[in-house]
Amino acid sequence: MASNSTPTYIYFLLISSLALPLISSPIKTLVLPIAKHSSTSQYLTTLYQRTPLVPINLVINLGGPFLWVSCDNSRYNSSSYRSAQCKSPLCSLTHKFLNIQPQCSNNTCMITAENVITSKISSGSLSIDVLSLRATNGLNPTNLTSIPRFVFWCAPEFLLQGLPSGSTGILGLGHSQLSLPTQLANQYNFTEKFAICLSPSTNSNGVIFIGEEPYVFFPGIDISKILIYTPLAITSKNAREFSDPHEYWINVRYIRINGRHVPLNSSYTKIKTKFSTINPYTILETSVYNSVTNYFIREAIAANNTLVDEVAPFRVCFSTAEETGSLTRPGMPFVDLMLQSEIVFWRIFEPNLMVPVNNNTACLGFLDGGINQKYGIIVGGYQLEDNFVEFDMVKSRLGFTSSLLLRETSCDSFNFTNNSG
Ligand SMILES: *[C@@H]1O[C@H](CO)[C@@H](O)[C@H](O)[C@H]1NC(C)=O
Ligand SMILES: *[C@@H]1O[C@H](CO)[C@@H](O)[C@H](O)[C@H]1NC(C)=O
Ligand SMILES: *[C@@H]1O[C@H](CO)[C@@H](O)[C@H](O)[C@H]1NC(C)=O
Ligand SMILES: *[C@@H]1O[C@H](CO)[C@@H](O)[C@H](O)[C@H]1NC(C)=O
Ligand SMILES: *[C@@H]1O[C@H](CO)[C@@H](O)[C@H](O)[C@H]1NC(C)=O
Ligand SMILES: *[C@@H]1O[C@H](CO)[C@@H](O)[C@H](O)[C@H]1NC(C)=O
Ligand SMILES: *[C@@H]1O[C@H](CO)[C@@H](O)[C@H](O)[C@H]1NC(C)=O
Ligand SMILES: *[C@@H]1O[C@H](CO)[C@@H](O)[C@H](O)[C@H]1NC(C)=O
Repeated sequence: MASNSTPTYIYFLLISSLALPLISSPIKTLVLPIAKHSSTSQYLTTLYQRTPLVPINLVINLGGPFLWVSCDNSRYNSSSYRSAQCKSPLCSLTHKFLNIQPQCSNNTCMITAENVITSKISSGSLSIDVLSLRATNGLNPTNLTSIPRFVFWCAPEFLLQGLPSGSTGILGLGHSQLSLPTQLANQYNFTEKFAICLSPSTNSNGVIFIGEEPYVFFPGIDISKILIYTPLAITSKNAREFSDPHEYWINVRYIRINGRHVPLNSSYTKIKTKFSTINPYTILETSVYNSVTNYFIREAIAANNTLVDEVAPFRVCFSTAEETGSLTRPGMPFVDLMLQSEIVFWRIFEPNLMVPVNNNTACLGFLDGGINQKYGIIVGGYQLEDNFVEFDMVKSRLGFTSSLLLRETSCDSFNFTNNSG
């Protein structure tokens, strides 16, 4: 391998060695719907694969390295399917792409991967097939477009255990040469970035944009114009330091509640914070959890909220019953993740904090993750809902909005009516 081994260079090498054509087209953005699964709170998307094309439902994993599906014979039937051979350039570049050493079995390139929900791992073949999804002009989905040679991983059927019923794999959006955003960016020659907006509703769709803005939501708001940015750390540059080299993370300097600085354990000069669509709720390292919940309880009680018995898995719960004679329910504190300066923060409001658990009780949607966590904060799905988040790999920055409800729009406000031609 030449010393000039930037990821793009490697990808072009790969494309030329497989004789893949660069698709020449004006497509700059692709779009996928996101549905929230009610019993598991996982987020699912649907795209099309194989010949003939069939829809496949996949769980979304922000930190996953690639797309995997079950290739069980009874499910997978495609005339365009190929597995990567052991001596192929794709197989030999896998170590560089994924930091995973491939194995050879029956002249098939085998790698090991994980079901992140169950933590089960397995070996499966690196594979290539047609993938298809819709382009967008930012306003509506447009033409269905196909990538003839999309690289993915074939999982054995048993690895599906633990996924929501109807889903047949996981869509990794992590920072990797084989993740969906990177493969699409390389094929269509657009900026390597994507944005995600999760809807809290199980009846309406959130959205993923892969590629460039605009991102237009009803009533005509281009979300790209209201993003706030913070530096995004991309770990694959020093992958060996981490067991999960494909995650994105940011540094939170400190946390405020109701605008006041929450004192943390002095071992924290900054709090390493990642984003997860797999964890339904935010997970805090124990000392962060204790400081934040103590402060939150104090502020909530000061605003006349009543602490009530805990409801698992939550430990901090308040009454939502109507007090006789009171006209309004007391407000809940808001939480700020303080970023690179005093004026840049991600404010989390009540709809993303309080989880209604029954008619009379709502609980703070933060969980204690235990001590010695790699991340002080793992922002979970509930806290991301109705917040728009853009991951830009080229500029190494994260764009976010805080709650779109304040802008009188929401994550289910993209118009999914097809407008081809
Ligand atoms: C696979 O697809 C082909 C062509 O569509 C069809 O003839 C064949 O019966 C299918 N096989 C299975 C196992 O479904
Ligand atoms: C090895 O590959 C050949 C050709 O693809 C196939 O016919 C055979 O069944 C495979 N053997 C095993 C043990 O998987
Ligand atoms: C890819 O995009 C860049 C920047 O937009 C442009 O300079 C370059 O010519 C494009 N390459 C191809 C092969 O279209
Ligand atoms: C602060 O964190 C360190 C390291 O995690 C721990 O050993 C110590 O007990 C913590 N102190 C407090 C007051 O929680
Ligand atoms: C809390 O309730 C007391 C007594 O009803 C009232 O005087 C006070 O203003 C309330 N405080 C807040 C912050 O609403
Ligand atoms: C919650 O409130 C609804 C509507 O007021 C009622 O139908 C339902 O039975 C209540 N559920 C419980 C568990 O009290
Ligand atoms: C959604 O898009 C379609 C096609 O462009 C358009 O006809 C329709 O009016 C749009 N709906 C809304 C609510 O904007
Ligand atoms: C979408 O498909 C139609 C019909 O095939 C074609 O006329 C049109 O140019 C395509 N639009 C784009 C943006 O590729």
